[in-house]
Amino acid sequence: RAVGTGTAHAKAILFGEHAVVYGAPAIAVPLHQLEVETMIRPTPGSELRIESELFAGTASSAPEVLRPVITAVRAALGAVGAVGAEEMQAQLRVRSAIPHGRGLGSSAAVAAAIARAAADLFGTELDADAFHEIVQRAERVAHGNPSGIDARAVSAAGPIRFHGGSARPTGVGAPLTFVLADSGVPGSTAAAVAGVRERRAADPVRMDRAISQLADIAEGSVLDLELGDRSALGSRMLEAHALLGRIGVSTVQLDALVEAARAAGAHGAKLTGGGLGGCVLALAESEAQAEHIALALRSTGAPRTWTTTVAAA
Ligand code: PMV
Repeated sequence: RAVGTGTAHAKAILFGEHAVVYGAPAIAVPLHQLEVETMIRPTPGSELRIESELFAGTASSAPEVLRPVITAVRAALGAVGAVGAEEMQAQLRVRSAIPHGRGLGSSAAVAAAIARAAADLFGTELDADAFHEIVQRAERVAHGNPSGIDARAVSAAGPIRFHGGSARPTGVGAPLTFVLADSGVPGSTAAAVAGVRERRAADPVRMDRAISQLADIAEGSVLDLELGDRSALGSRMLEAHALLGRIGVSTVQLDALVEAARAAGAHGAKLTGGGLGGCVLALAESEAQAEHIALALRSTGAPRTWTTTVAAA
């Protein structure tokens, strides 16, 4: 083919962030309305060139932010193409609606969309593990030592339970409407993960207790999801948020957004992803109530909100 195209979407972690780094299960939901589209076109005679509204550059003069993108292109072409494809000269176009540094999986989604575009270019398909490995290679360049939940979640159609590197779909007994609020502050997942590691080394008993409670919440939520029990899920979200605060990854601002969502009638709310900035996720009773919650979150300082409904399945 002359060009290959691919897409992937954002994700939000519902339960288990940070604890997943220590082997706990975690639950993630897709955010289909925040999408990345990529296009790869071979351009013999010129070097790898990347164009996007987010970043631009060539392989030889790549800013730091492009290193994971280049890694994804090389790994994807190497996995799908003929010998030498890894070094292929190409133009890559990236269009992304996913804000960076908000715990929404933007870097994993870009890598996943690149993997799909490379497979499309060569008219082939990647199996789930080959696909996952390409995204993880890019994620390691972006974040150091990612658990792999983002890499699985940005290409899954519905909610997943992630454990020990692999993911399976979870049942959803009733439609779940979530409001996601950007705190306006970029979070650094790498810094948040490093902070948890340091505090755990300093106070292992207290930290491990919180981490195992976060693991229990994630594990127990699978049944609540299957039953579509919004009230139980909301309580778990509030409990998880308090524990995430205890391990040191919440902020005054994230706490204020959680409180605003709760006061506006949400079943529950919590920070999502790495924390120390990023986003808050709230569970609404209905789409009508979600509008009310979104308004409350914006008047508490969130510059933007998104509403998404996870269908029963
Ligand atoms: O990429 P984020 O910010 O959604 O965070 C990923 C979740 C963490 O558990 C904090 C890190 C990881 O590698 O799983």
